[in-house]
Amino acid sequence: MCGIVGYIGRRDVAPLLLEGLQRLEYRGYDSAGIVITGKSGELRTVKAKGRVRDLEARVPKRFAGTTGIAHTRWATHGAPSDANAHPHADAAGAVSIVHNGIIDNASELRARLTAEGTVFASETDTEVLAHLIARSQADTLEQKVSEALRSIEGTYGLAVLHRDFPDRIVVARNGSPVVLGIGEKEMFVASDVAALVAHTRQVVTLADGEMATLKADDFRTYTTEGSRTTATPTTVEWEAESYDMGGHDTYMHKEIAEQAEAVDRVLRGRIDDKFATVHLGGLNLDPREARSVRRIKILGCGTSYHAGQIGAQLIEELARIPADAEPASEFRYRNPVVDPDTLYVAVSQSGETYDVLAAVQELKRKGARVLGVVNVVGSAIAREADGGTYVHAGPEVCVVSTKCFTNTVVAFALLALHLGRIRDLSVADGRRIIEGLRRLPGQIDEILKAEPEIKRLALHFADAKSMLFIGRVRGYPVAREASLKLKEVSYIHAEAYPASELKHGPLALVEPAMPTVAIVPDDELLEKNRAALEEIKARSGRILAVAHQEQEKADHTIIVPKNEDELDPILMGIPLQLFAYHTALALGRDIDKPRNLAKSVTVE
Ligand code: F6R
Repeated sequence: MCGIVGYIGRRDVAPLLLEGLQRLEYRGYDSAGIVITGKSGELRTVKAKGRVRDLEARVPKRFAGTTGIAHTRWATHGAPSDANAHPHADAAGAVSIVHNGIIDNASELRARLTAEGTVFASETDTEVLAHLIARSQADTLEQKVSEALRSIEGTYGLAVLHRDFPDRIVVARNGSPVVLGIGEKEMFVASDVAALVAHTRQVVTLADGEMATLKADDFRTYTTEGSRTTATPTTVEWEAESYDMGGHDTYMHKEIAEQAEAVDRVLRGRIDDKFATVHLGGLNLDPREARSVRRIKILGCGTSYHAGQIGAQLIEELARIPADAEPASEFRYRNPVVDPDTLYVAVSQSGETYDVLAAVQELKRKGARVLGVVNVVGSAIAREADGGTYVHAGPEVCVVSTKCFTNTVVAFALLALHLGRIRDLSVADGRRIIEGLRRLPGQIDEILKAEPEIKRLALHFADAKSMLFIGRVRGYPVAREASLKLKEVSYIHAEAYPASELKHGPLALVEPAMPTVAIVPDDELLEKNRAALEEIKARSGRILAVAHQEQEKADHTIIVPKNEDELDPILMGIPLQLFAYHTALALGRDIDKPRNLAKSVTVE
């Protein structure tokens, strides 16, 4: 969730690192810091609580150097403060380190080091590592770092500078991403390609347990035990411009607006009209294996979990394979029964969410087959899985996920269609779904045109202290996701409930001050959903419906274009993304960086 960026080469390092930090700020943002190797090898550090711009204001005019590392922090151990901001150094200022992740045995090590006379300058777990590296008697920086790493337990993505080894940066990874950027007589390191793509698109993603040494014109990778590993650079497909705001005021707005294009991308090159199916090259699942799958279990967190819930319904409907979704964060702690005939699917935008990764690792350890539905190419979950499919949404910068949710659900529709056509889904139904998928981009654009009306509705409801979101079967995960969107970006309390459960409790909440957002698709449950609206109306509840036709009992209806019943959930959440966005805007919220949240949760 924190961000790391580093550079070694010939250019003036401070502006490069500050620019890189700005691109990483969405990952975590309560403090930031930078350290560079000065002219005579000394390490010069500047840190600041707050945003990267606060750090920038503190960087002195004369701060020249061509090697440095920097960090944006999201507090875990110790409150946000100048002292707790990274980089962290030993008392003599020989070693400086930036670190993402958590050192589990930090307190134990801190107590031991304190007893031995070490004075700590911060409350962080990271500082322990700086002292351990500094105390090491090993000859090389690489050995000092690996010796220190051997005494810690926990996760890390880290970069280290040492006064006595000014020609290099040493980096290491275990459970927190580290990407090397390979340039011409210059090398970069970052926790996210976002910080690199403006300079190079040739990258090497380190694996867990791997380290690297970067020099201006060379790099090498090796294990923490010192054996060389092979690292072949790959080309990042995302352009630097796709990280820009592109004329929008926020990334959230930009990412909502580009969904038609994103959906077009996830469909491109995959549809096979001849056999009314789709090709998903990376699944690594031959038809015989696909036919022998008896259950599908989908695991993800937050928005990705909601996308997985819709995915499970699509798989049941189209492939008739029993399927369900569960939060990966719960699954991994309940000693789950792992069944050899179940196919497990891990869903993650970032591909780095620790709870999902840990669930995948546990499943692999127990011999399960795991597929990934992931956005970030080469991410930890994508690498750990036996196969899978990328969702091709392009980079998502706003902490609040929008276009990735939509693309992930479309990717699930493709998976469901693929499995369905291997099993019992007819050619006619296959064609029907393909035609529906092809209509999606145009229909998304149509929905986005209603933005002025959705904005008006958002302003109308923005004074609510709490809102209820209801939906039935296909509409329920849509309601859950819409309620999450509203609460995380506007901070209005929102609760999602199956419409079928209203009478069993939540109806007691209904009154004029508690508006309800209802998902009312034109499917076999339309009349049932209408009955729920009547129940709410009879108790003077205010209703905003998202439906395929005007709803008489609702005070307001947002009408969305009709697709195939199975694919309707993909479209019905989109107006509610705009609704959440405009509510948050009206309330003056920090839209791209909601309080207390970070984009990629790489810690437990
Ligand atoms: C909500 C949101 C989060 C993420 C969740 C999982 O808008 O973005 O709920 O969906 O933290 O993240 P990924 O998909 O990267 O595994």
